[in-house]
Amino acid sequence: MTTGAVGVIATGVRPADGHPELGADAAGLDAAYGVSLRSALERAGAKGKPGEVTEVPVAGESSAVTRILLVGTGDGGPLAMRRAGAALARAAAKDERLATDTAQSSDAEGLRAHVEGLLLGAYRFSRKSAPPEGERLARVDVHAASTRANEAAVEAAVRTAEATSLARDLANTPSNEKDPAWLANRARGLARRAGLDVHVRDERALAAEGWGGVLGVGAGSSRPPRVIELRYRPGGRSRAPHVVLVGKGITFDSGGLSLKPREAMVPMKTDMAAGGAVIAVMSQLQAAGVRVPVTGVVAAAENMPGASALRPGDVLRHYGGRTVEVFNTDAEGRLVLADALAYADERLAPDILVDLATLTGAASVGLGRRHGALYSADDDLADELLAAGESSGERLWRMPLVEDYRAALDSSVADLANISRDPGVQGGSIVAALFLREFVGARRWAHLDIAGPARAERDEHEVSKGGTGFGARLLLRWLEGLR
Ligand code: BES
Ligand code: MN
Ligand code: ZN
Repeated sequence: MTTGAVGVIATGVRPADGHPELGADAAGLDAAYGVSLRSALERAGAKGKPGEVTEVPVAGESSAVTRILLVGTGDGGPLAMRRAGAALARAAAKDERLATDTAQSSDAEGLRAHVEGLLLGAYRFSRKSAPPEGERLARVDVHAASTRANEAAVEAAVRTAEATSLARDLANTPSNEKDPAWLANRARGLARRAGLDVHVRDERALAAEGWGGVLGVGAGSSRPPRVIELRYRPGGRSRAPHVVLVGKGITFDSGGLSLKPREAMVPMKTDMAAGGAVIAVMSQLQAAGVRVPVTGVVAAAENMPGASALRPGDVLRHYGGRTVEVFNTDAEGRLVLADALAYADERLAPDILVDLATLTGAASVGLGRRHGALYSADDDLADELLAAGESSGERLWRMPLVEDYRAALDSSVADLANISRDPGVQGGSIVAALFLREFVGARRWAHLDIAGPARAERDEHEVSKGGTGFGARLLLRWLEGLR
């Protein structure tokens, strides 16, 4: 353990037969700082659970170290190490510097997770006129063996944390600042630095090309819609599979004329979280050295009940010509996605098409706030995404595309209705997925309904209150593994 650093130092604690156990590196700390770490753990009743922190004050002005943080590392696996990292970042948030040997006995995966946790736990979003009081953590030293694998792990952790922080920032930005044009401008600026081609369609281009879903949803707002297309093309093989990522980018969802209840509207600045995650993932592909071409399409609109708003009973004509009868203007995500998916299928020739969206409250009711709902008829694709979810810490749960429910989307006047009005058919997240499926042609396709995990009510482990950036870590993981 390095000494002389200004701030706090940390070391790991493992559970061993119900007792907390310090690592070998902690042995010298008692004498060096005049403390007894073992008795501090006993007094605190510490168990070594992931993320549990015991603070041990260090007396005396001579030492530059003010406290020693004993952090539980559980079984030392990635999930535990990520949580331990986040807990450390929160405990040291007001210190200038942190030095930790918690990852000393981890493998590269554990180190990556630990650094991700440290960076994500340190995330803050503020629009306060004065910066928050106290010092900010400016430097973290993580002691680990200097191997190639460990260096790559730290770099990967930094990239994922950057993507996640960007996705969080975009989602947390209030909707008086953030409209479709703002989101498109952010994407333009990021694309320049990330080696991406960018093409933004404004309302005129959208009208000329027949994007009726995006235009319909955006019609009630004074701030017109945009479709943001980002292209990443690595050098090398021309036969690598082309991945298209489609994201819902509703910059505010009031529900439109099918207005949401007062309280339900409050969190709806984050209804572009999926689109933000797509932009964030795209912005890291070059740095991550992803080997497959990827195109991101974000369908951005503001769902408002203005004078020219979409009405219940209106029929929209989507990209490619299919028509949809709108029974509820609050089921708007699927309307903008229908255009984007049809466009991807007809124009982009994807080998794999993945969309993500804060699509239904039902997904959140069914799976809670930690798992995204995964829909795919393709077992291999589903398994790859599930695995990326486990290793990234952004977990998915596979849901069924129940054929029996499809008839509930039949319309007597249009090709399709945008909601089910059959009270015998529930499963709102499943029905929404079936709606989207109508627009993906014969493509290999997966849909992620992230309405639950895209937002958090409070800080917990590496997840922060507000927009969580869900999807960025998961998709980067998945794309890093493709060839
Ligand atoms: N953006 C919402 C879904 C949502 C709800 C996300 C709560 C996060 C938290 C979506 O546009 C919506 O309003 N969905 C409706 C669909 C319904 C009208 C069929 C819903 O879930 O109630
Ligand atoms: Mn809605
Ligand atoms: Zn919505």
